[in-house]
Amino acid sequence: MRKQLLSTLALVGVMALTATGCSTDTADNDDVAAPGGGGGGGGDEVITVGFAQTGSESGWRSANTESMNEAFSEENGFELVFNSADNDPAAQIAAVRSFINQGVDAIVIAPIVEDGWDDVLREAQDAEIPVILEDRTVTASDDLYASWVGLDFELEGQKAGEWAAEEFTEPTNMVVLEGTTGSAPANDRAAGFDAAIEGTPIEKIDSQSGDFTRDGGKSVMEGFLQKHGADGIDLVYAHNDDMGLGAIEAIEAAGAVPGEDIKIITIDAVRDGMQALVDGKINYIVECNPLLGETAAELVKAVLAGEEVEKTTIVEDQAFDQAAAEEALPDRTY
Ligand code: AHR
Repeated sequence: MRKQLLSTLALVGVMALTATGCSTDTADNDDVAAPGGGGGGGGDEVITVGFAQTGSESGWRSANTESMNEAFSEENGFELVFNSADNDPAAQIAAVRSFINQGVDAIVIAPIVEDGWDDVLREAQDAEIPVILEDRTVTASDDLYASWVGLDFELEGQKAGEWAAEEFTEPTNMVVLEGTTGSAPANDRAAGFDAAIEGTPIEKIDSQSGDFTRDGGKSVMEGFLQKHGADGIDLVYAHNDDMGLGAIEAIEAAGAVPGEDIKIITIDAVRDGMQALVDGKINYIVECNPLLGETAAELVKAVLAGEEVEKTTIVEDQAFDQAAAEEALPDRTY
């Protein structure tokens, strides 16, 4: 009975998601149980997990999605119900609500923005569905979710700022390509970087969101170049590799040399970014590790088994200059 009701709700949920234009996929497998295992995690039962991904904005995001798909595989005992919200916060919250209605065993969220999560997290808690955050955080109380595995975005920004502070000892005009407005990495990477360059001759002359995308980075950089001229910009701080790669295209189109006339610092260290660093078009990259799937899957199993888990798991990041990138690139898996 409960299963029939949940199946109906699942169908309504999927229809609602289709109507809002976001995508939801389940593993292509007829043998797995329908959502609504009601607690899962024990014995050989398939654990149904709703995963609310941000979208597919960057190379980092593709690597993160792949890591999640691998970890939450059928072989590992999961049925993953995947939703990509195309970076629309309202669509992402609707997806989480749909997972609750489907009666999944657990929900994993990579929150697009930090704010606005209290209500839906409370709804999940009332439905006794544990929530694990991966990658980004929220401003809601941590009583409302079981655990978070992610990165120290502020430290990433700080490392990038420390490199800039050492490198630029003369007056320097910097422009910033910000990540998605209201997202934890955009907020924290700005804060960490700004604190590290305080008191240095680096001046932030412009700052705008490129939404973590290559196209966004390119068009925002085109605007900066039009406004300030290539000669008026010494340094670009991009909150991710993809926006930095878009900025390279804009700088080259403006007849300047990225990495020389205009220096570039980015965050992520995905293969394309690392290649640009090896090629001398990017000058420094701070890593943001996207391989969070395995830890997220372990957390889901532990929480469903009633085990005590850490509230926060921070995955460590490295930083790369050109020589370090040359060494690391051949073995880079993403
Ligand atoms: O939340 C992690 C950030 O999101 C990555 O730095 C960026 O590339 C992605 O889109």
